[in-house]
Amino acid sequence: SRLVVLVSGSGTNLQALLDAIASDPEGYGASVVAVGADRDGIAGLDRAVKAGIPTFVCPVKAYGSREEWDEALTEAVAAFEPDLVVSAGFMKIVGKAFVDRFGGRFVNTHPALLPAFPGAHGVRDALAYGAKVTGCTVHFVDAGVDTGPIIAQGVVEVRDEDDEAALHERIKEVERRLLVDVVGRLARHGYRIEGRKVTIQ
Ligand code: GRF
Repeated sequence: SRLVVLVSGSGTNLQALLDAIASDPEGYGASVVAVGADRDGIAGLDRAVKAGIPTFVCPVKAYGSREEWDEALTEAVAAFEPDLVVSAGFMKIVGKAFVDRFGGRFVNTHPALLPAFPGAHGVRDALAYGAKVTGCTVHFVDAGVDTGPIIAQGVVEVRDEDDEAALHERIKEVERRLLVDVVGRLARHGYRIEGRKVTIQ
C-alpha cells in the first residue's frame, strides 16, 4: 500500500512508521510515498527528507480561504495516489473536499481515549480533568473532529507527578506502537467500515 503521512511537528509517529518499514520492507505491506505538512521548518519534514521521501507543504495562510486550502491539500495528497492517508500529529482539521476524497482511507492518531478529550489539547485536558488513565486512539477520520470510527486504543496511566510533557511522552510510546501495528494491518489485510464498526480482515 501507498501511504501519504501528514505531520505538523516533531514527526516521531512518522519516524516509527519509517523505521518499521525499513526493518521489514516486504513484510510490512506499505511504503510512505510522500509526507505533507501545514507548515515548513518542522522536524517531521526533515525526517522525510532524510529518508529520501518527497514532501509538500500547504500553509493555510498561503490560500485565500480555508476551502481553498482544503482543496489544495486534497490535490497535493491525491497527486501521490495514496491507498491510505495517515495523520500523525497533523494539527489542522481537514474540510469537506478532503473527507469526500479520502474518507474511509484516512486515519488519525489522537493522544487520548476518544470520545474523551477530543481536540488539540487532549493530553492537557485529561491531566486537568484528573483522569487516572488516558491513552491514545487510532481512528478513521470523518467529517467531525476526532469523531470517526475507532480502530484501536491504548491505555496509559496518569501519574501524580505528571505534567503535560511527561504524560504526552508516555502516551507517545504507546501511540507509536499502536499506529505502526494498525497501519500495517490495514495495509496488509484490508478492512471494512460498517457504521462505527471497523473489521480488519
Ligand atoms: C501525537 O501525540 C499526536 O497524537 C498528537 O500530536 C503528537 C504528534 O507527535 N496530535 P509527533 O509529531 O508524531 O512526534
